[in-house]
Amino acid sequence: MAILPIRITGDPVLHEPAEPVTRFDDELRTLVADMYDTMFAAPGVGLAAPQVGVPLRLFVYNYPDEQGNERRGVAINPELWISPPPTGEADEDTESEGCLSVPGERFPLRRADRALLRAVDLDEKPFEIEASGWFARIFQHEFDHLNGVLYVDRLEFLHHRRATKAVVKRGWGKPGASWLPGVDDLEG
Ligand code: NI
Repeated sequence: MAILPIRITGDPVLHEPAEPVTRFDDELRTLVADMYDTMFAAPGVGLAAPQVGVPLRLFVYNYPDEQGNERRGVAINPELWISPPPTGEADEDTESEGCLSVPGERFPLRRADRALLRAVDLDEKPFEIEASGWFARIFQHEFDHLNGVLYVDRLEFLHHRRATKAVVKRGWGKPGASWLPGVDDLEG
């Protein structure tokens, strides 16, 4: 088991589009296993490869649904369709979204209520998941990471300004910052 350092906003790997996965080998299996360990240790409900410094198109997720069941998995080379299109507004829930690459901060962002994810698993087997609500939010958030987009980039103006101030105050927004779950406490 390996917990990987999580890159913090400002690190270039978080702000550039990731490349498709082409090699489904042991190295990829190890990466995914380490990404699960890192996500559970953080703890988080999703983690994309660029967040651990790997510019590849995959993410892991772990969504506890309303029945208390955990829906976890890995989505490799995903495609995502969402409905309705996002409006870029704030949510009425003022802390609706957070990100392990902007640790300890939360800001409101309205997401599409429904999402259809198509991806392949570690055996290159295609699968499809229809999600709504929070689960759909996780997919939209993680999919954004693969295109070099952080949720704070999507915030409505006033919240975007608050987020930018918070990032400056914490000394982030430049290359090289990371934190290690289980070692660094960056909540609150
Ligand atoms: Ni994130």
